[in-house]
Amino acid sequence: MQNKTALITGGAKRIGAEIARMLHAEGMNIAIHYRGSRDEAQQLCDHLNRLRNNSAIILQADLLKIANLPSLVDKTVKHWGKLDALINNASSFYPTPIGQITEAHWDDLIGSNLKAPLFLSQAAAPYLKQTRGNIINIVDVHGIRPMKNHTVYSTAKAGLAMLTQSLAKELGPEVRVNGVAPGAIVWPENNLEQDTTLREMILDRTALKRQGDPKDIAAAVRFLIRDADYITGQVIPVCGGRSINI
Ligand SMILES: NC(=O)c1ccc[n+]([C@@H]2O[C@H](COP(=O)([O-])OP(=O)(O)OC[C@H]3O[C@@H](n4cnc5c(N)ncnc54)[C@H](OP(=O)(O)O)[C@@H]3O)[C@@H](O)[C@H]2O)c1
Repeated sequence: MQNKTALITGGAKRIGAEIARMLHAEGMNIAIHYRGSRDEAQQLCDHLNRLRNNSAIILQADLLKIANLPSLVDKTVKHWGKLDALINNASSFYPTPIGQITEAHWDDLIGSNLKAPLFLSQAAAPYLKQTRGNIINIVDVHGIRPMKNHTVYSTAKAGLAMLTQSLAKELGPEVRVNGVAPGAIVWPENNLEQDTTLREMILDRTALKRQGDPKDIAAAVRFLIRDADYITGQVIPVCGGRSINI
């Protein structure tokens, strides 16, 4: 993976930042996309550049603005001359109980979790074909089985799982397209899962009886890019067995 280039959406913090650190440790150059987390993105970028000169850049964009997306790919390619991996990680997440769903919820949740990954992948495809590269979509176990009160989010992630299969068919044989479906890895910053009882209930549904770590997701991404030459169109649950017991 030495001198290969990855563009990671929502890469400033949490799972995206861990994916950035792990791929960088393998020798990849990293374009860290962010929307609002400029300070975190800059800190991570500085850290990676201290480890290896000119190995990271930051790129700002609201992924709901589809017209902005090709420029993320273009700036990455302009900086390092090529693109080897696109990681669609950015996501909005919150409950949308039936009766309270608005069109704005739909546009935001479908926009960040499904529409942007499609249009970014489309922009990246010609470059990824040149490098025989990879697209990795970060899905969710709730794209396989729905999460209560999260109809729009679950639907978006189910669409992302199908997009993974569809793009694998469209972009092969040059480009491999896979997904990773996390379970409980990092608790959301903004919702009810702060609730201790609910957290315990969620973890009790895993076979491993514990929370995962961003490193578990990053390691699956690394595996799919580095070690999985004959895998495409697949979504791997990394969830401590929650998907068998959801
Ligand atoms: N956390 C978990 O346990 C868990 C479980 C299942 C699935 N997942 C999936 O794993 C991935 C990473 O999870 P996470 O919890 O680390 O994600 P997160 O912190 O909730 O979100 C990652 C980033 O997405 C960016 N983002 C959201 N909407 C955006 C938009 N419209 N345009 C541009 N960027 C946008 C935000 O960037 P800024 O901060 O820069 O604004 C945010 O930092 C997501 O796809 C998530 O669905 C996570």
